[in-house]
Amino acid sequence: MHHVALGVEDAAQQLKWKRWLNDHGVPVSGPYERGYFKSIYFADPDGQILEIATDGPGFAIDEPHDALGQNPIQPKVSQLPEGRSEGDIALMTHPEPVAAIDPGMALHGIHHVTGHTDDLGAAGEFYERALGLRLVKRSVNQDDPDTLHYFWATYDGQTVKPHSDMTLFGWPANARRAREGTGQTHHVAFRATDETQQLAWREHLLGLGLNVSPVMDRSYFKSIYFRSPDGLLIEIATDPPGFSVDEDPATLGQSLKLPAWLETRRGEVEAGLRPLT
Ligand SMILES: [Fe+2]
Ligand SMILES: [Fe+2]
Repeated sequence: MHHVALGVEDAAQQLKWKRWLNDHGVPVSGPYERGYFKSIYFADPDGQILEIATDGPGFAIDEPHDALGQNPIQPKVSQLPEGRSEGDIALMTHPEPVAAIDPGMALHGIHHVTGHTDDLGAAGEFYERALGLRLVKRSVNQDDPDTLHYFWATYDGQTVKPHSDMTLFGWPANARRAREGTGQTHHVAFRATDETQQLAWREHLLGLGLNVSPVMDRSYFKSIYFRSPDGLLIEIATDPPGFSVDEDPATLGQSLKLPAWLETRRGEVEAGLRPLT
């Protein structure tokens, strides 16, 4: 994965995030006008690139709804490195300090995730056939316009369903391979409403000849796993039963919870843990 983007309502709220992060010592780049949304970027302590992207205006800004993804789209020159002023962009921020993260700044979960592939065709076929996503945009990486950038999403002809947007940069076949490590996304999970829907997805994926794991009980949800043609580990997890299955919702996260099969070794597990600082 290259980065993970979280959604925010609009550009004004996004600028508040920039000011808030900057004032807490986190360097932020942007906001960049991407056409479909505006983006700011920063990194977590492990170096994972995070983005906060505005909800709109969406993918229909430069081609009709019913023809999304059918033709290559060139971004405006003003969106590309040669046409934008990094100095002006760096100066853009909320005019006053932000005292606290307020409800207007609420992040709407995953806006999109972006990875790399050395075969956009194979990746596209996988995301369309295996996961039912639709190609909604064929364009270029606006920070590196020699690289293609394709977007897939759950799209009903009018709107892109939130949390469904997978995007990929097209890298050459001789590009270096990703490795697991700190600062790298381990896997990407999509949601199933319940176990019945998850089993239907599993049958569908098996029918395509994919190697799908058995259903695994993760205590808080059930999970199945498989890999994209690029090797990305993908999960489909059920929404239920959720994190309050073994803890009071008011005190979530305050004690060490272990699955039943590890509970018998609690003393041993606790002795090996380092305290959180
Ligand atoms: Fe992004
Ligand atoms: Fe997971």
